[in-house]
Amino acid sequence: MPLVSMRQLLDEAARGGYGVGAFNVNNMEQIQAIMEAARETKSPVIVQASRGARSYSQDRFLYHLMLAATELYPEIPTVLHLDHGNSVDTCKSAIAMGFTSVMMDGSLMPDGKTPSTFDHNVKATREVVEMAHAKGITVEGEIGCLGGIEDGHGAGLDGLSHLTDPDQAVEFVQQTGVDALAIAIGTSHGAYKFTKKPTGETLKMDRLIEIHKRLPHTHLVMHGSSSVPKDLQDVINKYGGKLKPTWGVPVEEIQLGIKNGVRKINVDTDNRLAITGAIRKVFAEKPEEFDPRSYLKPARDAMKKVVALRMMQFGQAGHAGDYAPITLAEMANRYEGNRVPVVP
Ligand code: 13P
Repeated sequence: MPLVSMRQLLDEAARGGYGVGAFNVNNMEQIQAIMEAARETKSPVIVQASRGARSYSQDRFLYHLMLAATELYPEIPTVLHLDHGNSVDTCKSAIAMGFTSVMMDGSLMPDGKTPSTFDHNVKATREVVEMAHAKGITVEGEIGCLGGIEDGHGAGLDGLSHLTDPDQAVEFVQQTGVDALAIAIGTSHGAYKFTKKPTGETLKMDRLIEIHKRLPHTHLVMHGSSSVPKDLQDVINKYGGKLKPTWGVPVEEIQLGIKNGVRKINVDTDNRLAITGAIRKVFAEKPEEFDPRSYLKPARDAMKKVVALRMMQFGQAGHAGDYAPITLAEMANRYEGNRVPVVP
């Protein structure tokens, strides 16, 4: 199966009432971990790469690894998504490379740090939507500012300082025509999200519910959705790491989000923790080892375990075989004729 558009995956998820994890990658082992988890759980999947990942992998390595993934796992509907594109040009280059979905994060200026104006955000996002939809590619936008910093991208704000305003969200979607919308409800990127176990009140779920009520056909995206499980932290610290105590987003809150229009859930940190813990363990227990496979294989297995668990928790498990891919050319026709959602 060729890489598919994210719009199709998310429309199907909306119809089935489940969420789809979007997992960040930088290298072959991470892609393999995700694809193996998808096969084991029979899940459609979104693989995403940030600008940092694209430069780390020189873009083409990553793209060709993804082509290998579609060859080796033909039964899995797979999306290649650009995470946090900072400018129209970045999105343009991702589309030229073969990404089937892009995020235009115009909530920040192109420096990826300074919060932007609403007008800047609308203008940049609208331009990307026009360019992308003409090729059948999906677009995610962002309104409000997420907390933290991811791969150098982010204003470094507290997750609660620039929450999404529901009125602005409606206006933004009407003016841009985005397929999916990242909203700020108190989550932030990275391992250090909360200094104590979050209660049901910590995340602004009431805001999310209101936005979904007012934008029932826009797929909502939860960024910064790692749960930062204590067991993964413990492995790192047991084998010489120095993570400070920290809490992430409870899976139950994500599941509440999924019941209220969240279709894409971004997870990176949990996988980073799993990989690092597994490598540290081999280094500590077998200091005589020097074959990279002796630690990359357990690292890949540890990430696969986390991804498979999230796929089951988000509800995407079992849905890989539900539908045949719609070509990007056909998606472009459907945008042209206003025939979206593709799955009513
Ligand atoms: P985490 O740092 O919580 O994994 O979030 C990742 C993310 O939102 C990528 O865009």
